[in-house]
Amino acid sequence: MNDSALKQDNNKKTWSGRFNEPVSALVERYTASISFDQRLAEYDIQGSLAHAQMLAEQHIISHQDLLDIQRGLQQIQEEIRNHQFTWSQQLEDVHLNIEKRLTALVGDAGKRLHTGRSRNDQVATDIRLFLRAAIDEIITLIKAMQQALLNLAEQHIHTVMPGFTHLQVAQPVSFGHHLMAYFEMLKRDVERLADCRKRVNQLPLGAAALAGTSYPIKRERVAQLLNFEGVCQNSLDAVSDRDFAIEFSACAALIMTHLSRMSEEFILWMNPAFGFIQLADRFCTGSSIMPQKKNPDVPELVRGKTGRVNGHLVALLTLMKAQPLAYNKDNQEDKEPLFDTVDTLADTLWIYADMLGGVRVNHDQMRQAALRGYATATDLADYLVKKGIPFRDAHEIVAQAVQYAEQKGCDLSALELSELQTFSARIETDIFAVLTLEGSMQSRNHTGGTAPEQVQAAIEQARKWLV
Ligand code: ARG
Repeated sequence: MNDSALKQDNNKKTWSGRFNEPVSALVERYTASISFDQRLAEYDIQGSLAHAQMLAEQHIISHQDLLDIQRGLQQIQEEIRNHQFTWSQQLEDVHLNIEKRLTALVGDAGKRLHTGRSRNDQVATDIRLFLRAAIDEIITLIKAMQQALLNLAEQHIHTVMPGFTHLQVAQPVSFGHHLMAYFEMLKRDVERLADCRKRVNQLPLGAAALAGTSYPIKRERVAQLLNFEGVCQNSLDAVSDRDFAIEFSACAALIMTHLSRMSEEFILWMNPAFGFIQLADRFCTGSSIMPQKKNPDVPELVRGKTGRVNGHLVALLTLMKAQPLAYNKDNQEDKEPLFDTVDTLADTLWIYADMLGGVRVNHDQMRQAALRGYATATDLADYLVKKGIPFRDAHEIVAQAVQYAEQKGCDLSALELSELQTFSARIETDIFAVLTLEGSMQSRNHTGGTAPEQVQAAIEQARKWLV
């Protein structure tokens, strides 16, 4: 083929020079990624602009070529934003769609853009740019949710609820303290994402197909233009590994797992047998058959969608596990799980921040539940220890007292002093302050404990961390 023949053949695939027959319609559909990777278009253009600028600075392409490429890419960006861009499955993916349009708009300069570059380092760059932005958005959303948690916790520093182990009443805790447990989980989630971001934020471009390129490129300049913290140090690794995406998915799965646990609690607490909270109506639905129902659909779906995000993590791990170096087409399958993870997580965090603002607490139900389960039994044991009885003996004495109260059908604090004294002569009138729910809570007055003073301090610390 001579030069003019090359120019005429616009419908041919970019890479089809050495092929004798076109792919079948099914293979074309099967191998195309344009239906989902068009979402990377903005990042693809950013990457191309930086690459072209470096090529011009290094005199690999002319200044005029750079101007043409910039003009063409700007027009393409506008067409995409205005939904005027025609995506073609025949052109396979976002990279080839944009390149083809660029060439149609600016001619040979468009064909020079791919100098010293491959779709392999190009797509790795696009995903990293996408994920970097996604991480920033998700961190902002987690912090909004943490703010909502703090606001709710602050109203409930003194609200008593039964703390559970094995879902059995264990010891009284402040509801504010319980909520702040989730603040801590989310704080670690933010820290994990911030750490993951450092490894996402490295530039693959320059690795080309796998081995690097023979042009005098300057990768550090491209990294600087795209705000990457550094460049990937091995070309084979740069185009082939997706560990940064897997790491992000693992962070996402943990966040969803935390939200799923909270959802599970909300669902239980909304059950009238608990009756601890009500969610605002806009987060619940009714039943088409049972008129009395108010179902906690949103927390249930959060719990359900956690399965889907966990699934994406497993999908990405499995995608990677048997790939020889370097790039393989398998990697095209990384995008849909990643996109869905980001979307599911972002929606969930938005909705949670809003939902927390509408939580109404039934103080009385919480209190009654704490009173029903001998939540202050440990306090009685601790009291006896302070009076000189070894802890194991105290444990035994209290077990007998609980059994007695259970038979009588009342709380420990409802027993007469004379009744309590049948279990230990060391028990005196000061025991009644110890056996109250508030007394029990107040006594756990150290860093991380449930005493209201400590919860207040934890909230203040949290506010400082958030700004
Ligand atoms: N659409 C491809 C992907 O998502 C782009 C890279 C294609 N590279 C190749 N050598 N076929 O991974």
